[in-house]
Amino acid sequence: MRAVWYDRQGPANEVIVTGELPTPEPGTGQVRVRLEASGVNPSDTYRRRGAVPAEYPRVIPNSDGAGVVDKVGDGVPARWVGKRVWLYNGQRNGRWMGTAAEYIALDADLVTELPDHVSFAEAATLGIPGMTAHGCVFAAGPVQGKTVLVTGGAGAVGHYAVQLAAWAGAQVIATVSSDDKAQRATAGGAAHTINYRTEDVAARVAEITRGAGVDHVVDVDLGGNLAAVLGSVRENGSIAYYASNGALEPKINLRALMGKNLTVRGFVLPTSPHATRKRAQLDIAAFIRTPNRILSVAGEFPLYQTAAAHLSVESGGKVGTVVVACAR
Ligand SMILES: NC(=O)c1ccc[n+]([C@@H]2O[C@H](COP(=O)([O-])OP(=O)(O)OC[C@H]3O[C@@H](n4cnc5c(N)ncnc54)[C@H](OP(=O)(O)O)[C@@H]3O)[C@@H](O)[C@H]2O)c1
Repeated sequence: MRAVWYDRQGPANEVIVTGELPTPEPGTGQVRVRLEASGVNPSDTYRRRGAVPAEYPRVIPNSDGAGVVDKVGDGVPARWVGKRVWLYNGQRNGRWMGTAAEYIALDADLVTELPDHVSFAEAATLGIPGMTAHGCVFAAGPVQGKTVLVTGGAGAVGHYAVQLAAWAGAQVIATVSSDDKAQRATAGGAAHTINYRTEDVAARVAEITRGAGVDHVVDVDLGGNLAAVLGSVRENGSIAYYASNGALEPKINLRALMGKNLTVRGFVLPTSPHATRKRAQLDIAAFIRTPNRILSVAGEFPLYQTAAAHLSVESGGKVGTVVVACAR
């Protein structure tokens, strides 16, 4: 099969090569997917760059993807063959072969059926962004009737968090950094937006919630947003965060945390509990059954330009998820 790989970590255009590799065979409990699209997430670029130690002598990058099941291994019903699917945890959890290739073989549990109205490129945005958003939105239980603050509500994860929280019946407040991003968050279902660069987030949240504060926060930068987040969440509320690029070792007032009886949950998709991931797959499948959800493809690159796709993620400013077209 045609595939993209790297044998050492480093800058995208120095280490990523394109060529031929043996087509994988599905093992027991696995399906093989003929890939049409591969999603590039920031963590795929961190791994390639060397931000985490190398785990394998060779890596086909990228966790997420979408395509058609073309073969099943022992123990998997033949009815899976021919199904359109999206998948997550491709190049993760013990697998060096990711989705930047024409085929991948992986546990049947990691693929979810895809409705016809969702394109493969759109479906490749669902894995890490959609499932991380789901894990964070529901980290403290159902959100129906609750008020949820989503920081960075126009980001790849943040925008799915806005949409999933609104879909589940929450009132959503999103922070953004521009009018365009405010429009994007509003289109996703945010009832209120706050420009976190020009406004006092906690004061605006107090105004919107008539002093009550929000029940739950989904946060893109807990270290950087600590004051705003702690000032916005109500007593007995909860915070789920999935990144902290602003500060990894922030100074925290633990009495404030304790005094509000807060639950704080860090979230990383690949190692999150199986039941959490299964729930996310089922809910996302239900969520996308309705056409016209906003599944944002930030840009598409042919397979042989996977290095350019990685560079595009690293250059910042993407709106949604950068996708590689595996059959081009
Ligand atoms: N834990 C996990 O499992 C997991 C999963 C997925 C992603 N991540 C991490 O999460 C981060 C975001 O990923 P992504 O793919 O969603 O990136 P993205 O599409 O670039 O979105 C990030 C968004 O957050 C906004 N933002 C940045 N700093 C902010 C702050 N302090 N307050 C409010 N908004 C802020 C950015 O907008 P402005 O710059 O305009 O403010 C942007 O809209 C990355 O560091 C990624 O590695 C973690």
